[in-house]
Amino acid sequence: MTLSVHIRGLGIYTPSRRLTNHDLTRIVDTTDEWIVSRSGIKERRIAAPGETNADLAAKAAKTALEKANVSPDEIDLLIVATASAESSVPSVACSIHHKLGLRPGIPSFDVSAACSGFLYLLQIAVQMLRSGEYHNALVVASEKLSAITDWQDRSTCVLFGDGAGAAVLAIADSNNGGAYIPSASRPSASILGTVLGSDGSKGDLLSIVPRTPPFPQPQENLPVGTHVISMNGREIFRNAVRVMSQACRDVLKKCNVQPSQLALIIPHQANLRIIDAIAGELDLPLELFKVNLDRYGNTSAASIPIALDEAIHETRLKNGDIFLLVAFGGGFTWGATLLKWNQPKI
Ligand code: ACO
Repeated sequence: MTLSVHIRGLGIYTPSRRLTNHDLTRIVDTTDEWIVSRSGIKERRIAAPGETNADLAAKAAKTALEKANVSPDEIDLLIVATASAESSVPSVACSIHHKLGLRPGIPSFDVSAACSGFLYLLQIAVQMLRSGEYHNALVVASEKLSAITDWQDRSTCVLFGDGAGAAVLAIADSNNGGAYIPSASRPSASILGTVLGSDGSKGDLLSIVPRTPPFPQPQENLPVGTHVISMNGREIFRNAVRVMSQACRDVLKKCNVQPSQLALIIPHQANLRIIDAIAGELDLPLELFKVNLDRYGNTSAASIPIALDEAIHETRLKNGDIFLLVAFGGGFTWGATLLKWNQPKI
């Protein structure tokens, strides 16, 4: 028997500071019209001075625990996805293990899969929970991309933003000791299946590279980190459409679900034109796709949980709805996950 894994609760955190396209015109030679027409992005959030990646992650995680009604000492597995950790050691996971006061001795580690990170987290957690050794997993996707943005490069600095999303996962309805019984009052999402992939041969199309000195003076109170994102936008665009469309087809086939059964698709929020092209490839209406990149930009691994949380608040999911998450990121990496929404009757 395959054990069913549920998302018991979701939490997000987005910094309060908004950086609009208009603000960016004071930093680089660009216009609101160019950014909106090429990407769909109108504004993005920027972490406060001194606010670290782990601070964003811990705030999202705290909300996820509250939403799931799970106490920190019930968590026995912690995994973080990020491409923008301030340090590789200690990991962001170990930093927030401490910040959240989780039980000493539980495994905590970071995963590096760029924008596909949240879907990698779900699959790792599903498999570790199914092993029977763990009962409540906390997964967190957190990015402080403002610290690795080249604020002098107009072709990249208009695209990215900061934010974090977290989920508590557990095995549901099992005879296994300690399994969680889906609540009669709280919604949850059951994970039906996932496909993941990567292609290292295209790694140099998007990378995080050391910044070439001299370091510029900080402008508009924006962070200036030691590394910056470097990318070939056109090639990424082309590959993102192809790979995300295929990942959607693959996960639907794997789970024996028809595209017409989908109530909602939550794609990685990189570019509205990428999402529009995927809708065309799959012959599905754009309205089926959740879009919030206009207000957050591309928050890499955090973009899917942030968009999912918003879709839940907008009540875009009804009991029994099947929905799909799909991502593509540097590496290259990709993934797609199919889920079912469980909404208890009140
Ligand atoms: N403002 C004004 N002009 C600009 C700007 C800007 N911010 N940035 C670039 N330009 C100029 C370029 O210099 C170029 O000028 P030129 O023709 O005189 O040389 C012109 O605009 C066209 O540039 P392109 O790069 O060809 O523009 P394109 O239509 O490809 O759009 C974009 C660029 C938005 C980056 C697009 O390729 C894209 O979104 N690619 C995907 C990248 C992405 O999503 N990366 C995120 C990480 S991976 C992931 O998350 C999936």
